[in-house]
Amino acid sequence: MKYASVTDRLATLGGDKWEIYSLARQMNADGADIVELTIGEPDIPTPDFLLQAATESLSQGRTLYSSGRGEQNLLDALAARYSKRMQRPINAKQILCFPGTQTSLYAVMRGLVEAGDEVLLGDPLYATYEGVIASTGATFIPVPLRPENDFRMSAADLEARITDKTRVIMLNTPHNPTGAVLTAEDVQAIGELAIKHNLWIVSDEVYDEMVFSTSTFVSPLQFEQFAERVVVVSSISKSHAAPGFRSGWCVGPAEFCAKVLPLTETMLFGNQPFIADMTALAVSAPSEAAAGMMIRFERRARLLERRLHGESELKVQLPEAGMFALVDVSATGMSGYDYAIHLLHNGDVAVMPGSSFGNSLHNWVRIALTTDDEPFAEACTRMISHAKQLNAGY
Ligand SMILES: Cc1ncc(COP(=O)(O)O)c(C=O)c1O
Repeated sequence: MKYASVTDRLATLGGDKWEIYSLARQMNADGADIVELTIGEPDIPTPDFLLQAATESLSQGRTLYSSGRGEQNLLDALAARYSKRMQRPINAKQILCFPGTQTSLYAVMRGLVEAGDEVLLGDPLYATYEGVIASTGATFIPVPLRPENDFRMSAADLEARITDKTRVIMLNTPHNPTGAVLTAEDVQAIGELAIKHNLWIVSDEVYDEMVFSTSTFVSPLQFEQFAERVVVVSSISKSHAAPGFRSGWCVGPAEFCAKVLPLTETMLFGNQPFIADMTALAVSAPSEAAAGMMIRFERRARLLERRLHGESELKVQLPEAGMFALVDVSATGMSGYDYAIHLLHNGDVAVMPGSSFGNSLHNWVRIALTTDDEPFAEACTRMISHAKQLNAGY
């Protein structure tokens, strides 16, 4: 049978990246004792007050159709939240609701690019981005995020790759998998480029409330001089430990939302009213769940750095935000993928190979900071004894 070309474009961009995660899950199900530091699930359940809000809303019959933009109470709550953060009015017409950042990103990119267009995006990158761009037919142009620049995107690296086909600069701040947070100067310089070359900026800010004590988050939406070309995507998945609710949104110019509305109506027709009620409550105050996670994740990142630097040649890149830390494994002489497989089978720890997040992380692995303190400390000990075995040539 014949299939559309999109299936070929996406064929190699799917599940292979999660091979070690699936392998470790299977090994544990078969009775092994692997500490899993692979995917980034919040380390707490969804807060009770949100579960109660969703349940009450369900029992009040909030299970009928929404509108294509989403429920008005959620649009208003998001408008209030972004107006407060941006210190200027952001109205409900500038927002569309979706089931999660992922769907939002898909609709936003479908609304902005197509075959023949180029999208500038940092490498390393979150695992699904390439697929989103490929699904539109546009071309992904990787912009190196350099360890020597703490993995922050540089305007000079961006500008060197701008052509007359470039349409969008895609940002992810705070960044998965590097934990980098763009500074105000970085964002300003990127925004000036966007103005100069008439480009959109799409900013994935799903970790905006997940910033460690040493950093400050800055959104391109804060800059009035280029806000008219900025679309932010985000959700409550990370900040409220609620990825299963699938509740996200985009914020951009009212004209952009009006243009993309028919696309969202074609895809899904808004999000679910009982989830919208719960999300409206979630976004109306800073997240205590996020604040707690940040304390624990920062503590674990520092423990990882202290232990691995003190007792092995593995090099930790201290994150400034998010749920992950990167480790440079070049000292082992292995690629990140070979190291991750070797560690799984000989050290009983599962980590993600950096290559799942772009070619530039060939010699790195990604560690999730979301495992409880005790197994996390145990994983550090296991990684150190595994590194010693490797050094001794076992
Ligand atoms: C950078 C980034 N964007 C988007 C997502 C997906 O978010 P959501 O659950 O809101 O679709 C993730 C999930 O890990 C992520 O790390």
